[in-house]
Amino acid sequence: MQIDLTGKSVLLGVTGSISAYKACDLARLFVKAGAEVHVVMSPSAERFVSALTFEALTRNPVLTEQSESWASEMNHIELGKKCDVFVIAPATANTINKIAQGIADNILTQTALAFKDKILIAPAANTQMLAKTATCNAMTFLQDNGYSMINPQDKLLACGDVGSGALAEPTEIFFEVAKALCSDPFWKDRSVIVTGGGTREKLDEVRYISNFSSGKMAKSLCIALYLRGANVTYISTMGFDELPAAMTTIEANDAQDILEATQQSIQKVTTDRHKMKTPYIFMVAAVADFTPKAPQSGKLKKSMLGDTWHIELKQTTDVLASIDKSAIKTVGFKAEMDTQEGLNNAAALLDKKGVDAVCYNLLKDAKSFGGNENEITFITKDTQVSLGRADKLTLSNKILDEAKKLIHEEASNV
Ligand code: CTP
Repeated sequence: MQIDLTGKSVLLGVTGSISAYKACDLARLFVKAGAEVHVVMSPSAERFVSALTFEALTRNPVLTEQSESWASEMNHIELGKKCDVFVIAPATANTINKIAQGIADNILTQTALAFKDKILIAPAANTQMLAKTATCNAMTFLQDNGYSMINPQDKLLACGDVGSGALAEPTEIFFEVAKALCSDPFWKDRSVIVTGGGTREKLDEVRYISNFSSGKMAKSLCIALYLRGANVTYISTMGFDELPAAMTTIEANDAQDILEATQQSIQKVTTDRHKMKTPYIFMVAAVADFTPKAPQSGKLKKSMLGDTWHIELKQTTDVLASIDKSAIKTVGFKAEMDTQEGLNNAAALLDKKGVDAVCYNLLKDAKSFGGNENEITFITKDTQVSLGRADKLTLSNKILDEAKKLIHEEASNV
């Protein structure tokens, strides 16, 4: 899934940790997303990776003690001014402690002290170095003062110890930086539930009835929401690969799982409703309308079933129709193959299930499932807006822009 950071500029700070080589992957992720990337390296970082590596990856000169120049923008004051965000990854315990104290004794800490916008810090150090009172206090102080910490991982460290201290994965750091760049006041800190994927209704313990839904549209919507700053709860039957680890995820299998997880999540996000922004639910999951009446335990034998197998199905509970919608905005999804009646069927969902909006998607044929593109019309009681055909992340952003309009009074307040 291609996150687009075109027009954004990132300053990447690299300090002297063995994980400095991972900053190369991180730089690549920013470049691939279309961002302009500048790098500043502490003298210790240069002992692990050469400035030339970053220069080749970013196509920009790298700021080091040697390259600093007052005849150009390559100095610790001007370089920061060109960038929207500063991420220090990896940040050693030494650098964290120094930044918290306002110490500026090398090119990187000088750049940090001079930087006016958001700074994100991804620590990487031995467990004991991070656990020391001085480092803990420094991290707490920085967090309380507008810096964002990207938590290190627990694993076998390069020094041989096992514990917390390994640099977060480059993809995780990328998500957090992208989130800092894409934040949207309307969605920021708003609770949003998304369901996705086709349900699997068990016939016995090895066989099930399902559908071709890939869960890609729901996943794209989750990423678009996450980057805008929403508190996303993703209920899915299709796993959670490629999603930020910080996202709340609930695994589901069948229609009953989706029903229970949705009800519980709604309960959670609507308690204390007066203190919070109105939550949303995007019901993207292709929930089975029917499920086997009597799923069998174990594995049914062909010899027991005979030449034909008659399976009795019963209707499932309609999640969208049955949930309490009094304190949550609801968006249903309707995939149709009927070119004549599809749009009308989708619009009918507004009353049939009492939802605030419907995303209508006309499927051309069975091959339409699982692709990276989609075509959506966003339908409310008042409007039908064609969002066109696009990749699923672009469409998700368009859906979110339309879904904002469901809350007029809040939209003007934030
Ligand atoms: N939905 C649900 N619970 C179900 C079935 C569907 O919540 N048991 C939700 C889907 O997540 C989607 C919307 O309802 O948001 C789809 O509406 P629906 O009219 O049920 O679509 P289909 O299931 O495709 O209906 P039909 O088979 O009649 O075309």
